[in-house]
Amino acid sequence: MEVKTFGVVGAGQMGNGIAQVAAMSGLAVIMNDIQEEFVQKGLNTIKKNLARSVEKGKLSQEEMDAVLGRIRTSVDPKDMAVADFVVEAATENEQIKFKIFQDLDNICPPHAVLATNTSSIPIGRIAGKTKRPEKVIGMHFMNPVPVMKLVEIIRGIATSDETFQLTWQLSEKMGKTPALAQDYPGFIANRILMPMINEAIYCLYHGVGTREDIDTVMKLGMNHPMGPLALADLIGLDTCLAIMETLYQGFCDSKYRPCPLLRKYVEAGWLGRKTGRGFYEYS
Ligand code: CAA
Repeated sequence: MEVKTFGVVGAGQMGNGIAQVAAMSGLAVIMNDIQEEFVQKGLNTIKKNLARSVEKGKLSQEEMDAVLGRIRTSVDPKDMAVADFVVEAATENEQIKFKIFQDLDNICPPHAVLATNTSSIPIGRIAGKTKRPEKVIGMHFMNPVPVMKLVEIIRGIATSDETFQLTWQLSEKMGKTPALAQDYPGFIANRILMPMINEAIYCLYHGVGTREDIDTVMKLGMNHPMGPLALADLIGLDTCLAIMETLYQGFCDSKYRPCPLLRKYVEAGWLGRKTGRGFYEYS
């Protein structure tokens, strides 16, 4: 099956990045969200990213126009009726994702693959809400999507070989390097990353170091591009907490207990860059 039309549900931080790389790889993209305001915000982010590449001489104005010409925005889920492959990148909330997958299952053509960018919800649980579990798969992009090379592909228990191979090839077409993970809590990326971030938050909570010192240790001592607290602000502290809860509940192991300070920040609405305050302040 050849993928020609690529749907993205959710035009936020991850969704607009996925739409951008899909359009840059030559696919016709439909970027959908529940409100016009959200799709326009997503489209503006894509325009800004592409304009920066034009300024740097990495992309011509004509190429930028062609990429934008391949992206259609939508606020009607029924527009996905023409999609061959859809990636859902909505809020990390089970009930919301279940509803989206039920709708997509009813709307999309029978051959369409339904992928989720979930960072922690089991693929099998989402697939179970559809009548095509063999066509449901995890396609987990990293933030910021246009920059990060990885796509973590997660096979649910019912995902077919055909769906897996198509998703792998599509990831490569989009300029990414895929890696395969099985459907266990946190998959590979967040099973390793989140406990590190959570431990950095414990270091702050216990007064082992300041936010700057904790981040400096990991940046300069381990050559990480960002410190764990700055990275948590980039990912979103609500997302970090949701992933830690998934690991904690999924493994019933105290080593995954979310730090109380993380919970406190989320309760206060300090969610990181997106709200202007997390472990750091952003203007
Ligand atoms: N969107 C698009 N492009 C961006 C960007 C964004 N949000 N942020 C940075 N860039 C681009 C810049 O334009 C620049 O491009 P050029 O090379 O073409 O000039 C390039 O990235 C480097 O940016 P900067 O020079 O401004 O800054 P930097 O060198 O510090 O890189 C970074 C920024 C890429 C974010 C880097 O700090 C980094 O790799 N950080 C770690 C990110 C990471 O770990 N992501 C994974 C998070 S986990 C996740 O996403 C999964 C999950 O489920 C939680």
